[in-house]
Amino acid sequence: ITDPLVLFMPSGKRGRFPVGTPVLDAARQLGVYVESVCGGRATCGRCQIEVQEGNFAKHKITSSNDHITPKGAKEERYERVRGLPERRRLSCSAQILGDLVIDVPQDTVINAQTIRKDADTRVIARDAAIRMCYVEIEEPDMHKPLGDLDRLKIALMHDWGLKSLDFDFYLLPQVQGILRKGNWTATAAIYKDADSETARVVALWPGLKNEAYGLACDIGSTTIAMHLVSLLSGRVAASSGTSNPQIRFGEDLMSRVSYVMMNPDGREGMTVAVREAISGLVDKVCAEGNVQRNDILDSVFVGNPIMHHLFLGIDPTELGGAPFALAVSGAVHIKASDIGLKLNQGARLYMLPCIAGHVGADAAAVTLSEGPHRQDEMMLIVDVGTNAEIVLGNRQRVVAASSPTGPAFEGAEISGGQRAAPGAIERVRIDPDTLEPKYRVIGSELWSDEPGFLESVQATGVTGICGSGIIEVVAEMYLAGIISEDGVIDGGLSARSPRVTANGRTFSYVLKDGSAALTEDGPKITITQTDVRAIQLAKAALYAGTKLLMEKQNTEHVDRIHFAGAFGSFIDPKYAMVLGLIPDCDLDKVSAVGNAAGAGARMALLNRGYRREIEDTVSKIEKIETALEPKFQEHFVYAMALPNKVDPFPKLSA
Ligand code: FES
Repeated sequence: ITDPLVLFMPSGKRGRFPVGTPVLDAARQLGVYVESVCGGRATCGRCQIEVQEGNFAKHKITSSNDHITPKGAKEERYERVRGLPERRRLSCSAQILGDLVIDVPQDTVINAQTIRKDADTRVIARDAAIRMCYVEIEEPDMHKPLGDLDRLKIALMHDWGLKSLDFDFYLLPQVQGILRKGNWTATAAIYKDADSETARVVALWPGLKNEAYGLACDIGSTTIAMHLVSLLSGRVAASSGTSNPQIRFGEDLMSRVSYVMMNPDGREGMTVAVREAISGLVDKVCAEGNVQRNDILDSVFVGNPIMHHLFLGIDPTELGGAPFALAVSGAVHIKASDIGLKLNQGARLYMLPCIAGHVGADAAAVTLSEGPHRQDEMMLIVDVGTNAEIVLGNRQRVVAASSPTGPAFEGAEISGGQRAAPGAIERVRIDPDTLEPKYRVIGSELWSDEPGFLESVQATGVTGICGSGIIEVVAEMYLAGIISEDGVIDGGLSARSPRVTANGRTFSYVLKDGSAALTEDGPKITITQTDVRAIQLAKAALYAGTKLLMEKQNTEHVDRIHFAGAFGSFIDPKYAMVLGLIPDCDLDKVSAVGNAAGAGARMALLNRGYRREIEDTVSKIEKIETALEPKFQEHFVYAMALPNKVDPFPKLSA
């Protein structure tokens, strides 16, 4: 008779096991990750699974609750004391009696804040670098002079199948107290890399410690975003963000590098500022999630190369000019305390590798989250900031570059521009016959020509125009014939509409007028010729960078485009294509993926396999230095036109 067949979902891993094998053991043998803190003693409740009932024809298997042992005394005691959701079983107690399809509940889905349709279905498989391991230790014996720590080590290695085990030194003076307090039981937080044989105890508690947390943090040059995540369930306990206080040293990255070059203690000042902001965020997420700093055992940080260096206390001056040398490009594994971050004393800190001097650990995290290297389609990922980071590729090959778009897409250096915030215009439509505009602002659901609009924006007023609004207004001006293919505002239209007005030797378009004639209150917002030029320069830089990567890939088109980052979340793909920011592509294959860098950081936090995956991938990504590519200029010039002088956009007209 053959042994029963056990199939684990959603991974699909399967194998045959003798009757009586605990389901947890079967999972372990197949490499299916099921959490366990108590080591199978039916006390932690982390190992829950569900039996799927029915016939699974594809696998020729009939699965039933009768194919698993009924709850035993230990499991019943757990259910009485802690409660078990209906149909859930403790896989350490339940044993295999017949063929089974087992559902391993996955509580962890990628970033819920992303607006992509398929986002909720993507699951982060858990296999954290930190594991919580409960043990029972032999009491000391006068006749066996083995130290308390040594007996703890033997018990941990035996119960948890470890080949070698070290201890963080700071624990040595504490071991005796902890073991006695726990009455010869303890829970160790054990840190182990994906590919290392050596495990390390980084924290120790008396008795059963059934919770551990980690931080996933994206250090943006404008905003820092942090998630506090349970390492045991994958649940996000709290999320928060704050503006990067380094802004007071310089708005954009290059001005921060200049600040370091010109001020002897500039680097130090910016390092202190960002670390303080991060520490403040830790307080915030801990308060919101009702978690102690001492329970945070791991952390993953991502950021562009300059943020990465400043956070680690490294002078970023070399990144200010060719050859843009990184002090360290590989992943960084340190203790959080090495940089003065107060978490648990043994907490670890991991930074993803940087791709190149201009393309940082944030782009690596975006790549990990979106996974161009896992699929056949040619995927383009753009993360638009003052520097656009661009990744293009598929399973065969991935190339990356950054392109100097400047701050125009973020609303800076535009006459009425502002950051995306309540009161900023974010959507624009222009009637091609009358040239009259209507718009919507952040914080209101109404268009400006709808009744009740003025009341709906009373709190903030209409204060300016943000990045996505600028993209739309320039695209709508083009579609309404106010600007030509070359981006010139047609002064002849001033005879037809008071919206087109002379402004020195060029013309402007009045989007919003404070005067009674155009019946709107608040500041006047005009789109000047200079504004249109700034958008043309930014979009040409982005497109030229993309085009270079497409040439390197030997491809004429891309299958899918993902916009990462805040800007991408608000931009309407149609307008991005009308302006020629991105190459031609099916519009329904262009999507905004939100804070993909944060999602990638969470993946690396919850699964050490992802750390290895992205380290491998980054080592193979080919980096293109746009500044050194002779064809960049040519692509740039063509891309100044709307949407492009030479490249067709068939999907747009269709
Ligand atoms: Fe702890 Fe099953 S492993 S309850």
